[in-house]
Amino acid sequence: MAIYVKEDELVFHLQTKKTSYIMKVLDEKYLTHVYWGRKMTTPDMGNAQINRGICFAPINYDWRYSLDFVCQEYPVGCGTDYRVPAISAVYDDGSRTVELEYDSYIVISGKPKLQGLPATYVEEATEADTLEIILKDKVKGMKVVLQYTAYNELDVITRNVKVINESNARITLEKVASASVDFEHAQFDMITLPGAWGRERHIERNSLRSGIQSVESRRGASSHQANPFIALASKNATEDYGDVYGFNLVYSGNYSAGVEVDQLFKSRAWIGINAYDFSWILESGEEFQSPEAVMVYSGEGLGEMSRTYHRLYRKRLVRGRYRDEVRPILVNNWEATYFGFDEEKIVGLAKEAAALGIELLVLDDGWFGKRNSDNCSLGDWYVNKDKLPNGITELAKRVNEEGVKFGLWFEPEMVSPDSDLYRAHPDWCIHVTDRKRTECRSQLTLDLSRKEVCDYIVKAVSDVLDSANIAYVKWDMNRHMSALGSAGLDREHQKEMPHRYMLGLYDVMERIVSSHPDVLFESCSGGGGRFDPGILYYMPQTWTSDDTDAVERLYIQYGTSMVYPISAMGAHVSAVPNHQSGRVASLKMRGDVAMSGNFGYELDLMKFTDEEKEEVKAQVASYKELRTFVQSADMYRLESPFEGNTTAWQFISEDGNDIFAAYFRILAKVNMGIFRMRFVGLDADATYEVVGENKSYSGAELMNIGLVVDFWGDYQSRTWRLKKL
Ligand code: DGJ
Repeated sequence: MAIYVKEDELVFHLQTKKTSYIMKVLDEKYLTHVYWGRKMTTPDMGNAQINRGICFAPINYDWRYSLDFVCQEYPVGCGTDYRVPAISAVYDDGSRTVELEYDSYIVISGKPKLQGLPATYVEEATEADTLEIILKDKVKGMKVVLQYTAYNELDVITRNVKVINESNARITLEKVASASVDFEHAQFDMITLPGAWGRERHIERNSLRSGIQSVESRRGASSHQANPFIALASKNATEDYGDVYGFNLVYSGNYSAGVEVDQLFKSRAWIGINAYDFSWILESGEEFQSPEAVMVYSGEGLGEMSRTYHRLYRKRLVRGRYRDEVRPILVNNWEATYFGFDEEKIVGLAKEAAALGIELLVLDDGWFGKRNSDNCSLGDWYVNKDKLPNGITELAKRVNEEGVKFGLWFEPEMVSPDSDLYRAHPDWCIHVTDRKRTECRSQLTLDLSRKEVCDYIVKAVSDVLDSANIAYVKWDMNRHMSALGSAGLDREHQKEMPHRYMLGLYDVMERIVSSHPDVLFESCSGGGGRFDPGILYYMPQTWTSDDTDAVERLYIQYGTSMVYPISAMGAHVSAVPNHQSGRVASLKMRGDVAMSGNFGYELDLMKFTDEEKEEVKAQVASYKELRTFVQSADMYRLESPFEGNTTAWQFISEDGNDIFAAYFRILAKVNMGIFRMRFVGLDADATYEVVGENKSYSGAELMNIGLVVDFWGDYQSRTWRLKKL
């Protein structure tokens, strides 16, 4: 049992393998936050906080206590706490003061499913316990259920919130955070993953300051520009030392995550759906379910926090066949041909792929409608007979005959104004009736808050998938929402559209994915514009970035690994000069970077020289060996590209027997001294063979002295595969 309740003092103590999370009800009313961090062995820990102050704030408790000074568990709006609220509501009489009082609790073995939303899960009830704390605004009949799940073997606590209207009148929610945590101090750095198209999830680390600091998306997608993740790290925290608190939202739409440092130097962290442009009407008896927040505490630095997220997401977020099976090595034709392909070109690529050992050919954008450029046909999911006269069925068959599986690109959430779909249903896109429909890449966003639109997508995509032997789908999404409006919602419900879109999207994905269990789905949004746990619940891998340059990818993949496992990251070798940066990196470095993810190629295989073909064959063969453990291995980040000219990381199989490590140097420098690869996490007394080199070393030597790395020239890399003897 991971949850202890001290009934007489109303203390709630959640325990994971190495952490404790403690709450206490104060004055039989107020649910306060007591502690989150390293595990406490005493199960009850009823020592509640005493927060007194003389700080110009209205009083709730006795003359010394205001909620403004108290560490709270789920703070409310328009009350006596002036910090960022977790929940704001407007009642039917127009009043906005919310008062939540403790009502009751229940403990559930295991982890209940979240209705209509993606979430982490358990396979056995013994893996976790769930606590529900019920709070009520008794005056207005609003019930708030705070749900916490503590995993036994992982240092993870998940949270979500359900709001139920138990009154006879309408309640309008204006904010419902998934989690809010108060810390008694603000001695933290905040780590975030900002970016842009082609530069996703770079790492920023900033000292907390007074006031609010936050990341958010108002784009209708989790976005390239920010990620629904923040971590609070103690000032001295490194990769393997110090306290780190991670917050990640299992959601793909608008979110906000941040911290407020208050007048008493306390800090309040929150994560949840963005209150910007959000409201949700609850009629009598209706309920609202928030997305799930995944909170990870590590007392051993950032690396351990990341590995905890990786394990959880690999095993208890991702579902289906490819959770446990190795992922195929693919070649995607996008950077090879863009829109300029025909059946013979694709079959030719498949033939070449087979000769190199590549297992899957993905036909990207341009196979449908009359699409020869990006200005038409999205929504018309039937084959472009000018390019593919024998259709997708025949093309897939011919690709299969070459010994290669066939995969296909879709962008189901979009419609081109120049499309049969748009001509038939001009009101099916997100728009405001009397305003210009603002296009991006000549396309509009379909309004997935509407059931009939979702049904159309499910049918259109399923029809294609059922018509041919399709083993893989790349699900793209290439614009953010603008001119927000839905023809399917009345005036009062317009602000529900962005969240209703997400619910529609998740429903569409669930229906398509569950009816095609053998298909491997890879999500994409102009590269990594929707790299979030919400999408990973449906699709086990994401195209990490449209920037395929090996050097750029060091930063992107390193930053992405802060939260997401490498089994989630699509990574391809592309042509040089690179199409995004113009850089000419060695084939070896391009291969080594891509092998630190879900490996593939994204170039014209026909253009390889004979020498390059031999190198590619060797890359493919070595990845086939590596992937049996690398895709499920623990990752250790050793040198950060954000701190210098070198990057290094290492992967250890779950049983500790297989190791893959890679060391990269971006630019050549002269007389820089010796570079060494110092391994971590090995068994000091064991002997390890360096595969392919006929050498072996003790774990102690590999960890303490390391192996010398010799580089010559720019864009260099070196990898090692170790086997424990
Ligand atoms: C954006 C994706 O990120 C690319 O990989 C490619 O699929 C294009 N869309 C196709 O339009």
